[in-house]
Amino acid sequence: MDSNLGEVAKTNTVLLTGGTGYIGSHVAVELAMSGHSVVLLDNLSNSRASVVDRIAQITCKPVQFIRLDMLDYEGLCAVFEQYNFDGVIHLAGMKAVGESVEKPLEYYRNNVGATINLARCCCKYNVVNIVFSSSATVYGTNANMPLCEDNDTGCVNPYGWTKLMSEQILRDVARSRKDCNIALLRYFNPIGAHSSGLIGECPNDIPSNLAPYVLKVASGQLPYVRVFGNDYDTVDGTGVRDYIHVVDLAKGHINALDKLNTNCGLVTYNLGRGKGYSVLEVIAAFERACGRKIPYKFVQRRAGDIAICYASVDKAREQLGWQAQYDIDQMAIDGWKWQQYYVKNLFNE
Ligand code: WQD
Repeated sequence: MDSNLGEVAKTNTVLLTGGTGYIGSHVAVELAMSGHSVVLLDNLSNSRASVVDRIAQITCKPVQFIRLDMLDYEGLCAVFEQYNFDGVIHLAGMKAVGESVEKPLEYYRNNVGATINLARCCCKYNVVNIVFSSSATVYGTNANMPLCEDNDTGCVNPYGWTKLMSEQILRDVARSRKDCNIALLRYFNPIGAHSSGLIGECPNDIPSNLAPYVLKVASGQLPYVRVFGNDYDTVDGTGVRDYIHVVDLAKGHINALDKLNTNCGLVTYNLGRGKGYSVLEVIAAFERACGRKIPYKFVQRRAGDIAICYASVDKAREQLGWQAQYDIDQMAIDGWKWQQYYVKNLFNE
């Protein structure tokens, strides 16, 4: 374990695992801007340490960072010994659906193992407020739209199962510890970037998700977008998803943390916009943002894809006082601004 800190007095703060990642870095900014002191913990397997300085640049606040793998239980205990954590926001995990099908054991070991280690430390050090990064993938592929939190769950890939298993582990911890307050946040499709253009998604190689792929085509790094199927029963035949600005998603974590301070026990919320956009509508939004045509070709459907997926967001609005604010054009504008910074400053970092 190495950190950018010497000995520090025990202070009340929030532990943010996966804090240098795409979602994590945006949650870190919102935590700091909301007055929380935050410790970022990440193994840097899918992110860069340089994001720590850019988070500090955005927030004008020092950012505490510890490089550690969540599977290092003793190392994790040492972190909990060093701080009085008010709460934990657990985002660390592997997140590529396709990769999870190829490497299931790596996903189960890493994602479920990380949740178990974190829950063990929270119980051992009496950190009773936990926010967990779950996913709309837990709803499976047979549900009617919009998806509600009390819908049946069932997964079609190991990544989704790691999220559902982690939810169950935390549900059982909450049952065993009446003082525990846990928020399970089911993300839909986060895209875009912070308006500063200083943080955003840094795909390691060819992205599997739509938005980062479109941005690589828009910036000339890839020749065209492959549209996976145009024969779905949707507005234009292409897949429809619930895209949410990553800053809206990040803000939802602050509302969830506040909710836990009301001793609510275990709660589950969808974090989406409650509205679906098709692949072609997303491409058109990025064309408006970058001011140029983005070439695409229709190819066969991707295995495992469903036609339409979007959230019911009533529960988060009513119980968290949270609702997504940014539309698809703002997501595209902010995503394009980040892509230009990323290509110019970080692409070969
Ligand atoms: C969106 C739409 C594709 C790429 C995944 C994970 C989910 C969550 C969000 C973490 C679909 C189409 C895509 C491309 C395309 N991640 N598409 N060409 O599959 O809805 O959800 O990311 O929690 O768990 O499953 O997102 O961006 O891959 O696809 O046509 O090159 O874009 O068919 O309709 P998805 P996606």
